[in-house]
Order: sequence, then structure tokens, then C-alpha cells
Amino acid sequence: MRVDVVTIFPDYLAALDLSLVGKARRAGLLDLRVHDLRDWTADRHRTVDDTPFGGGAGMVMRPDVWGRALDDVLPEPGADVTGHLVVPTPAGEVFTQRHAEALAREEHVVLACGRYEGIDARVVEHARSAGHRVSELSIGDYVLNGGEVAALVMIEAFGRLLPGVVGNPHSLVEESHGAAGLLEYPVYTKPPSWEGLEVPEVLLSGHHARIDRWRRDRALARTAARRPDMLRVLEVDSLDAADLAVLAELGWVVDDGRLRTVAE
Ligand code: ADE
Repeated sequence: MRVDVVTIFPDYLAALDLSLVGKARRAGLLDLRVHDLRDWTADRHRTVDDTPFGGGAGMVMRPDVWGRALDDVLPEPGADVTGHLVVPTPAGEVFTQRHAEALAREEHVVLACGRYEGIDARVVEHARSAGHRVSELSIGDYVLNGGEVAALVMIEAFGRLLPGVVGNPHSLVEESHGAAGLLEYPVYTKPPSWEGLEVPEVLLSGHHARIDRWRRDRALARTAARRPDMLRVLEVDSLDAADLAVLAELGWVVDDGRLRTVAE
């Protein structure tokens, strides 16, 4: 997979040399290139921004500079490979594991990191009309100073889903925000007793069916406490009788094919 990042702070992306993503790059699984947007400026001062039309605070990134950069970095229109342009922005759709899965299936992703008040809106429009897929994505309901950290988050999230990047693919199966639609259960390792705190007995029992049931119960309870929004959209067909019993104890019932709390 090829990934290009365009930014005015290429050094921000140095973290992509580390850990699993760094290993994937060195193994040739991920062809990741970071570019300095200022390389596409046309003036002595290497200007990338200007004042907003219509007035208001801050500066807006110029479409001509971004247009030249993206024309060079995105695949040519009509090429075998199509490109997916991702623009991190707090005004985007919220980035989820589903976006990470979709991006991991792409052949070529380009991330355009804006700063200041954002990128002139015509840049996205232009890329779409050239036939590229374009996603404007937010990593959460808070405002960062630019798209670089959000790009790091997204690259790590989709990069680890590429075949061969995570050593044991089973670790992708049960994790939070995976196919089960639940948060992950709590995990423990040695020593079995630490600071007066004991590992739950069942995990030491070697009884796999009981361990699976305990983990499933903890996942349901955790999701109910921390992310009731996830329970509300859960496929009820994925729940067995034991799940429904645990949920009932937690105050959740099935109503018209969806979970809701008894209080509603
Ligand atoms: N740029 C600034 N804030 C952001 C956010 N929350 N998500 C993605 N990009 C951003």
C-alpha cells in the first residue's frame, strides 16, 4: 500500500519510523512518503496561506499550492490505481474503525494536513471532480492545531490492519471496536497477586468455556457502563441467551429489534 502525507511540518510524522508502522515500512508492506507542502509554493517566502474571503479570524490555506501538491502526489486520472484523499478536519465525519478498515483496503491513500483555519474548500471539490475518493474525517470532538496528529492516528489505525503488520492476526479479532460491536474485556498477566489485588480466579482455571463466558460478560458490562451508544446499535441477533440475561441484570432489554434501558 502507498501512503503520502502532505504537511508544512514533515518532522511531526517522524513517529511513523517507530513501532509496528515503522517495521511495516522497512518490510516493504507500507510505502509511506512524507512531503513538505512548501515545496509546491511559487514565491520567495514559500507562502501557503492567505486571509479568508468574507472576513473573519485566521488564515486559510491556498488552493493553488495544495492543487499543485495533490496533482503531483495523487495518481493520474485514468491510471490503474485510484487514490483516496483523506483530509483530517474537526469539521469532518467522525473517524471510526470502519473507516480504518475501508482505508486498509485502498491501494493509495493521500493525507492532506491542514493548519490554521483549514484548506480552501475548492481543493476537496477539485479532487472529487477529478475522480478521486475524498473523505474529510475528524478524530473526535475537539480541535487540534492541525491535521498532523490526526493523520498519525489514522495511519496507525489502518496500517495495523494491513496483512502481515500485526504479528498475531488473532489479536485483531476480539479487540474493542471490532466486529462484536463491544468494548474489549479487561486483561491481566503475571504476577497473579499484586499490591493485594488478585487476578479473577476464573482466568486461572484453565476452563476455556467459563473464561470465554466471563470475558463476554465483562465486555457487555463495560460497554453498558462506558458506551451505551454502542449497545443501542448492536445487532441483537449477535446476542445469545446468556448475553441477554447479563444485559437484563444491567437494566437492558430488547425492544423492537434494538437494545434499550428499562428506564426508557
Ligand atoms: N484538525 C484539527 N482538529 C482535528 C480533529 N479533531 N480531527 C481531525 N483533524 C483535525
